[in-house]
Formats: sequence, structure tokens, C-alpha cells
Amino acid sequence: MLPISPRAWLLLTAVAGTLASTVACAARVSARSDAGASKSLDDSKRTVLITGANRGIGLELARQYHAAGWKVIGTAREPDAAKDLKSVGEDVLVPALDVTDPESVRALSKWLEQRPIDLLVNNAGVGDGGESSLAKIDAQKLAHVMQVNAIGPMLVTQALLPNLRAGKGRVIVSITSVLGSIEGDTDDGYYGYRESKAALNMFMRSLAAELRPEKFVCVPIHPGWVKTDMGGPNAQLTPEQSVAGIRKVIAGLKAGDSGKFWSYDGSNLSW
Ligand SMILES: NC(=O)c1ccc[n+]([C@@H]2O[C@H](COP(=O)([O-])OP(=O)(O)OC[C@H]3O[C@@H](n4cnc5c(N)ncnc54)[C@H](OP(=O)(O)O)[C@@H]3O)[C@@H](O)[C@H]2O)c1
Repeated sequence: MLPISPRAWLLLTAVAGTLASTVACAARVSARSDAGASKSLDDSKRTVLITGANRGIGLELARQYHAAGWKVIGTAREPDAAKDLKSVGEDVLVPALDVTDPESVRALSKWLEQRPIDLLVNNAGVGDGGESSLAKIDAQKLAHVMQVNAIGPMLVTQALLPNLRAGKGRVIVSITSVLGSIEGDTDDGYYGYRESKAALNMFMRSLAAELRPEKFVCVPIHPGWVKTDMGGPNAQLTPEQSVAGIRKVIAGLKAGDSGKFWSYDGSNLSW
């Protein structure tokens, strides 16, 4: 037996008690940090990149995702003029992007560096003035519509794929239109716009197939007829209503939903 005085014994047990409570406390702190770490995987901590986010549906997407706690990167052709987008929140990042310009797409990719992106929304788009007869088709205007609505989303997705692979969400959405449905109502012209959205839909379907092994979900979503500069004042939906629906569709997407044609109201549309 160790020769130890009662006073030294008391001191030793006190030190042992303090040590034990310090260890217990450290364990509690560690449990709290673990809880914090798992919280960082929440939807509210994810990053969305939205193209054409300075007005219309893109701006409302930025507003709603930001309000839900997401990190928002909203692109604009002219970031200095994107006042409404910047007013969404001081932490909203507004890089420049013209989807028709490969150099601009490359610059965005370089600016992003390795930043992970969980959700890409290819939203930027243009109408074609509604050309209703073959005689009115103008080659230059048609090429521009195809460039913005169909080729642009391909270039942006291609450039941002490393960032999307680094993210945890692995969702790619393109805002398309029911006017691109070949089986749908095709009675009223809009040649260029319809062609561009049909091409975009085909891209999303091919993309879904290519990226399925990597567990990506890739979908085109029709936003409804929306009161924006493009949709006009007589449209059926406000941007708030359309985007609430789009977000609900995105939040509910599962692996088997990839490569389907979605409407903002949660229904599937025919190709
Ligand atoms: N509104 C509807 O009823 C409706 C229906 C079906 C589908 N959609 C689709 O929904 C999407 C958004 O439409 P919206 O109604 O919000 O239209 P919008 O109000 O006219 O906004 C279009 C957005 O696209 C951007 N954009 C145009 N050309 C671009 C380019 N070359 N590079 C980058 N950005 C470009 C615009 O930027 P600038 O401000 O710089 O021009 C703007 O931010 C489009 O894809 C559209 O086809 C809309």
C-alpha cells in the first residue's frame, strides 16, 4: 500500500473528480459540435447557382432560396445593374454571365474555382417574338434563340460539372416550356422558341442518362405562364406562385424522377 496521508488522499480524489467532470464536459461539447456538423448538411446550408437571376423567374428563385437559408449565386449579364438581385441579401454573389459567350462561361467557371454547387438552375432564356409562319423566320434571330435557350444551358452545365460533382445535392434543372412539347399543343407558331425548348428538353434527357451512374437528378421544369417581362401582364401566375411550385418539385425529386419532364404544379408533361 502506498504511504499517503489523509490530506493528500483528499487532494488526489478532488483532482480525479475535476478530471472526470472535465472529460464529461468535453464529451458534451463534442456531441454539440457533431450536431452542428450534421446541421451543415441541411438543405438550408446548400448552394444554388441560378442563371439570369436579375429579373423575372430567376430573381424570384434567388429570393425564395435565399429566404430558405441557401447560399445563392445569381448570374447577370450586367452585375452592376442587377440592383434587385443584390438587394435580396448582402451575401448573394452576383457574377457576370452571358450564356451565349463561351469566354464568359469560362470566366464564371474560373471565378467559382472549386466552390461546390448543390443545385444548378439554367433559367436564362429569351422569346422569339412569336413568329407564326415559316415566311417570317429570320436566321439570325433563330440562331440567337437557340444559342440562349438550348446551347447556353449545355455550355454552362459542362463548365460547372466539377463544381456540381463537388456538391452534395447533385441536381441540375433547366427552366423549359410546355411550348417545347412535341406532343403538346403546337398550333400557334413560336417556331424558334418551341425548337429551342424541345432541344433543351432533349439535352436534359441525355444529361440525365449520362449522369445517372453518378446519382445526379437532371430535369426540365415548365414554370407555367408567369407574369414577367417574357410572360406579360396577362399571364396566369405570379413569379411567387410559379417559383413556390418549382421549389416544391425540386425538393421532392428522387433518383427515379431524373429525365422526366416536370411542370411547376408537380405533374409530369408529355415530351
Ligand atoms: N414567363 C413565362 O410565362 C415563361 C413560360 C415558360 C417558360 N419560361 C422560361 O422561364 C425562364 C425565365 O423567363 P422569365 O419569364 O423570367 O423571362 P425574363 O423576365 O425575360 O428574364 C429572362 C432572364 O434571362 C436573362 N438572359 C437573357 N439572355 C441572356 C443571355 N444571353 N445570357 C444570360 N442571361 C440572359 C435575362 O437577362 P437580361 O436582363 O440581361 O436580359 C433575364 O435575367 C426562361 O427560360 C423562359 O423561357 C417563362
